[in-house]
Amino acid sequence: MSRIVYVNGEYLPEEDAKISVFDRGFLFADGVYEVSSVIDGKLVDNAAHIARLERSLKELKLDWPCSPEDLLGIQREVIARNNLVEGIVYWQITRGAADRDFAFPKNAKPSLVMFTQARAVCDVPAAAKGIAVVTVPDIRWGRRDIKTVQLLAPSLAKMAALEAGANDAWLVEDGVVTEGSSNNAFIVTLDGTIVTRNLGNEILHGITRRAVLEIAAREGLTVEERAFTPAEAYDAAEAFITSASSFVMPVVKIDDRILGNGVPGPVASKLRTLYIEMARAAAS
Ligand code: PDD
Repeated sequence: MSRIVYVNGEYLPEEDAKISVFDRGFLFADGVYEVSSVIDGKLVDNAAHIARLERSLKELKLDWPCSPEDLLGIQREVIARNNLVEGIVYWQITRGAADRDFAFPKNAKPSLVMFTQARAVCDVPAAAKGIAVVTVPDIRWGRRDIKTVQLLAPSLAKMAALEAGANDAWLVEDGVVTEGSSNNAFIVTLDGTIVTRNLGNEILHGITRRAVLEIAAREGLTVEERAFTPAEAYDAAEAFITSASSFVMPVVKIDDRILGNGVPGPVASKLRTLYIEMARAAAS
């Protein structure tokens, strides 16, 4: 059975879900997206994802294709139509179809596409083992705070990591780590301080990042939001990444340096457990 995909007002089998070749998402990467995770058939921290979408749309002067309430209704409908119990919902809004022109079209209608991916997000083997990352240059544009669909640079970074035998890439600019290819990057120093890049245009303002920092504060852990170098990361006690699809994922190797004993550290493991508990309890 194929998935049911939402495309501009219709729920269609994925084979029939199509958009115009003139869609500006296709021609210019002129669009934004979001990913919310689903646990027990319910959305995790979804209001925050919709709020970030609203900001991304505003920054690109893109119109809503529907109201935020309708969007939520469509999310619930794709979850129901696909019997999704655990996984993710992906949705993207582009400026729509218009003859190719660098200037924004006057009357294009924004496109909205949404689909689900069924996959385990809570109980994943990688979380017990930890992942390896490699550092690569951050060659992305200057507005990474906007969640645009132009993902070629992160895709190349991910491929470089896979080719190096690692699982993911940490991006480095001006000698410091910005974030992961599709996640926020954290280290835990030898004295137990959690360090992650401060917010700005250089990184995506991760929804999971924010939730994890709130949990860390509640647990009385020390947090510093600042830039860190790969060298500082090599000497860290622990490291981890956060995202809507990986939650909190321990990192046990950075480039050729193994952290600690090469197994997920206590801080990352605890934050993962607490995040999943909170996400499951608050999912709606
Ligand atoms: N990626 N940084 C980047 C560059 C990202 O692409 C993502 C999310 C994050 C984490 O943000 P959040 O916690 O809100 O998911 C940070 C999604 C999951 C993706 O592209 O699939």
